[in-house]
Amino acid sequence: MSMVGVIGYGVVGSGTVELFEKHREEISKKVGRKCDIKYICDLRDFPGDPFEDKLVKDFNIILNDEDIEVVAEMIGGATLAYEYTKKLLERGKSVVTSNKELVAAHGAELIAIARAHNCNYLFEASVGGGIPIIRPLNKCLAGNEIKQISGILNGTTNFILTKMIKEQMDFDSALKLAQELGYAEQDPTADIEGHDACRKICILGSLAFGKQIYPEYVHCSGISGITPDDVEYAENAGYAIKLIGTVKPAENGKVLAIVCPRLVEKSNLLASVDDVYNAISVVGDGVGDVLFYGRGAGRLPTASAVVGDIIDCLKHHHKVLALSWEDCFDKDYVADYKKDQVSMYVRIKAEDAQALKSAISEMFGKLMYIERAGRPDNELAFITPHMTEEDIDLNLAILSHSSEIASKIRLL
Ligand code: HSE
Repeated sequence: MSMVGVIGYGVVGSGTVELFEKHREEISKKVGRKCDIKYICDLRDFPGDPFEDKLVKDFNIILNDEDIEVVAEMIGGATLAYEYTKKLLERGKSVVTSNKELVAAHGAELIAIARAHNCNYLFEASVGGGIPIIRPLNKCLAGNEIKQISGILNGTTNFILTKMIKEQMDFDSALKLAQELGYAEQDPTADIEGHDACRKICILGSLAFGKQIYPEYVHCSGISGITPDDVEYAENAGYAIKLIGTVKPAENGKVLAIVCPRLVEKSNLLASVDDVYNAISVVGDGVGDVLFYGRGAGRLPTASAVVGDIIDCLKHHHKVLALSWEDCFDKDYVADYKKDQVSMYVRIKAEDAQALKSAISEMFGKLMYIERAGRPDNELAFITPHMTEEDIDLNLAILSHSSEIASKIRLL
C-alpha cells in the first residue's frame, strides 16, 4: 500500500483529502498500486469530520512512518513548512505543496535536497491554483526560448477588481467577500499589495530562466491605490486595470521581473479574465503566444493540482523528476525595471490643470488625453508615449512642482 500524509487541514488541505478520497480507487489504478491517505496532521480538533480517524497532532508520526511515500505540505508560510519539508525530503519522502511563499524563498534548495535523497519536491499548485502551468513550462514548452511570461496570478485581487469594475462594489466589501469564499490569504496584505503574485512570477521566472529569482529583488506594487476614477479613465480609453506579474529576459543574462497594476487593452485576452480566474500568457520563440486560463484559487481547484502532484510522486517513487533551477544570490540578476520601456497612464491634480497641457505635451511629445464624465477642472489624465520609466519619472518630477501626481499606472 502506498501511503500519503497531509500536513495542515485548512482550506486546501481539506480539499486535497476530499478530492483524493473521492477518487482513491481511480488513483490506485493510475498509480498501479493501492494508495491511500494514512494521516492528516493538524494541531486543531475536527470533531465529526469524516476523516477524523486519520487525524494526528504530531508531525513526527508522519516523518517516522516508513509507509509514507508522499506528503502534502499544506501549512503555508516559510518557517515551520520549511523545517518540515526539509526533514521529510531528507528522509526520502516526496513533498508536494501549494506553498508559493516557501517555493519562492527556498525552491532551489529544496529541489536540490529532494534530488540528493532520490525523491521529489513538486509545486504545481503554487502558481495559478488549478491551472497546469509548472509542468507545461517545464516539459511541453521546454523546446522554446521563453521571450516573456505575464499573467494575472492572484485570484483575490482579480476578484476584487472585477467586483469594483462590474458591480461598483467598494474595496472593503469585495475583499470581505473574497475572504469568505476562501480565496484570500490569512493576511490579505500579501494579496492586495502584490506579494503573492510576486512569489508566483518569481517561481515561473526561476523555472523558465533556470536561476532562482528572489521576490525581495522584484519591484512589486498592489491594487490598494487604484481608485474608481482610474477605473473609469481606463475604461474610457479602452483598457481594463489588472494586477499583472511579468518576467522576461534582459540584457547581459539578467531577467526583468515586476508585479504591478497595469492598463490592459480590451483586445488582449487578459483583459477579459474576471473574478477569481487567473491567466498566464507565455511567449516562446517557437510556439508564439500560449494562454493558460482557469481557477487560480479556491479549495478544490487548488486541490486538483496538489492531487495531480501526489499521483506523479507516487508513480515516480524513488525516481527523480527533472524539474529544477540553480540558486542565485546575485541581486543584480534582476535588471532595473526603470530602464525598461513602458507607456504610463498618469492622473494629475492642479489648480489650473488645463494650463499645464502645453508643458506636458512639450515633455512627453505625442500623448493621449483621456476624459471621464464629470471630470473636475483640476484634474487631467493622459497616457505617455513609450519611453523608459526613468525618463517618465524625470518628467513627472518636474510636473510635480506644479501639480500633484495622483496616479501612475503602467500599460501592458
Ligand atoms: N490568495 C491566493 C489568490 C490564493 O488569491 O490567488 C491562491 O494562490
